[in-house]
Amino acid sequence: MNDDSGVDLAMDRAHSARMYDFYLGGITNFPADRETAVQALQAFPAAPIAARINRRFMHRATRCAAAELGIRQFLDIGTGIPTSPNLHEVAQQQAPASRVVYADNDPIVLAHAQALLRSHSDGTTAYLQADARDADSILTHPTLTGALDFNRPIALSLIALLHFLSDDDARTAVDRLKAALPSGSTLAISHATPDFDPEGVARVTATYARAGTSVRARARDEIERFFGGWEILEPGLVPTRHWRPDPDDPTGTTTDAEASTYAALARKP
Ligand SMILES: C[S@@+](CC[C@H](N)C(=O)[O-])C[C@H]1O[C@@H](n2cnc3c(N)ncnc32)[C@H](O)[C@@H]1O
Repeated sequence: MNDDSGVDLAMDRAHSARMYDFYLGGITNFPADRETAVQALQAFPAAPIAARINRRFMHRATRCAAAELGIRQFLDIGTGIPTSPNLHEVAQQQAPASRVVYADNDPIVLAHAQALLRSHSDGTTAYLQADARDADSILTHPTLTGALDFNRPIALSLIALLHFLSDDDARTAVDRLKAALPSGSTLAISHATPDFDPEGVARVTATYARAGTSVRARARDEIERFFGGWEILEPGLVPTRHWRPDPDDPTGTTTDAEASTYAALARKP
């Protein structure tokens, strides 16, 4: 079914971005998404906790890039359906003049992109639809080149994205993006792993596969390789809830198995 703008929302099929929205308590999901999400919850009951932990890492890593490292340009690939606070809201709360470009390959995210475009008047936000497996289509997109200055550091976020890419695609995309960014840029990654709950992660991965989405959870050393050549900042590549936790964060009482993700922030020398 198409929406008013002609976007095919494929409402009859479960979709990972809308399932993630369901885990986060959002309303941008349909019966097919909820049906598969319920199956995923049977396979991996902590999925909503994992989604919240992941989202909070995005907030903390963005705050760190803006407030501690002074970065004013952000590129977020695999943005997902808007969930407040979105990355630009976090960045512009620290530095209102921040310029933020969002990219996702999913027309459903495009259909909801208006919420991502409500920038602080001092800064700017932009959205482009492109596939991370073709990094050049992102890097050369006029929306991106019009918004970001590649002579100044850029904070790149690949949050809960790379486990949807094959080994070759993930490696090629990360290498290409890293090469394009200037010194002082950062890379934030969060990524699913089987390290803490191999059986649960295998079950939920199989559920996604049955719904047509392939997920490649990776071991810690495989994820660490994505940062190759860049300085991984303290506290390193850690279970996501351990990455500079806020003292009052309610997800601080969860377990590593519940999140089943790693996260890190690295800086280009
Ligand atoms: C689990 S959501 C994560 C959303 C957000 N980054 C967060 O962490 O809250 C994954 C997003 O990655 C997007 N995605 C998956 N494969 C992609 C690809 N090849 N290129 C661009 N985006 C992709 C999906 O459409 C979805 O919106």
